[in-house]
Amino acid sequence: MFNKGKNLWFLLVAVLLAFMLAGCTEGSSGEVEEPDVDSTDEVESDDGEESSGNIDVGIVLPTRDEPRWVQDEQRFKDALADSDYTTEILFSQGSSANELQNVETLISRGIDVLIISPHDGDAAGAAAQAAADEDVTVIAYDRLITNTEAVDYYVTFDSFAVGEAQGNYLIDQAEEGTGIPLYLYAGAASDNNAFLFFEGAWSVLQPKIVDGTFVIANSSEAEALSDQAELTRDELGRILGQVTTNWDPNEAINKAQTHLTSASDDLKGDVLILAPNDGTSRSIADTFAADSDISSYVVTGQDAEMASIQYIIDGKQSMTVFKDVRRLVTDAMGMAVTILDGATPETTGSYDNGAKEIEAMQSEVIVVDQENVQSALIDSEYYDASDFTGLE
Ligand code: BGC
Repeated sequence: MFNKGKNLWFLLVAVLLAFMLAGCTEGSSGEVEEPDVDSTDEVESDDGEESSGNIDVGIVLPTRDEPRWVQDEQRFKDALADSDYTTEILFSQGSSANELQNVETLISRGIDVLIISPHDGDAAGAAAQAAADEDVTVIAYDRLITNTEAVDYYVTFDSFAVGEAQGNYLIDQAEEGTGIPLYLYAGAASDNNAFLFFEGAWSVLQPKIVDGTFVIANSSEAEALSDQAELTRDELGRILGQVTTNWDPNEAINKAQTHLTSASDDLKGDVLILAPNDGTSRSIADTFAADSDISSYVVTGQDAEMASIQYIIDGKQSMTVFKDVRRLVTDAMGMAVTILDGATPETTGSYDNGAKEIEAMQSEVIVVDQENVQSALIDSEYYDASDFTGLE
């Protein structure tokens, strides 16, 4: 009996060692090409031979074309450097079809947990279902997957608070007086977050619109709804339909140009601009800066992208909402590891995705402008001062 137990013990140690070795590999590949055999799928077996190994956690991000998601990839890589688990990161490049294929690839590689930030919240239901059908636990990351029961958890920032912070910043920085032009822009309607951001901003801006302090410059739908403190999803959708950037900086430029061309003189001068994120903020800011009838603008942003931090230092973008991606990655991986260990992850609230309440873990956001770039981003070691010019 004793010997048999001992043999089992050695076997267990050997298996554990092999598992830990396997856990040392981590990599990322782009888009949906066949997985690169030189990255994560080749794991060293204990006899030194390479064999095709399983992946524990699959990570799918929406696009490599926006610095926001490249940040997430880098932060995942940093966090996983010492991980005992194998992971693979794939990008969907703004396509739900790629996304589904990525998820199927990861399922075929044996993942137990899928961490996914969908390109399109509704369309990603198919990918989530494919994973759920194989008993893979699905964690929605930053963006919620909507109208499906096939999502288990949601790891997110407080997106309503992001919009609220943007709106409050505009209110705090506005000149004295009334009739101040307010230009509204939003994210993609396929992204649930775009609704939350706008809703948060509206919650603080609407009283200033209804009392005449601000005048909406570019959305007849928002104007028509300006006496409503709260908007339904449908009403929000009507406004987004007019002022969406689709998260695309070029679409943002085109919209801003059209709005400025048709704006009357009383909608120029000193203006306020609600821009949903950094990529669109920089292009909208450049467009407004190039209009000689605009004397000053306050413009919001989000993500603390490096290019926007430089814009803030240079006085070309007013603020950004810093979402510490290190925290989100830690929460998501912590959740994944808990699940792999057979336990139930901790959550702090829940989100209704249209089909069910999804247990969620939510983290806070920080407003950054010229005043606190140093303390929020450099002192916290998120970025290096040497990444920027003009920082003491
Ligand atoms: C994210 C933002 C990002 C935007 C565009 C949103 O879902 O929360 O951080 O800027 O998508 O990619």
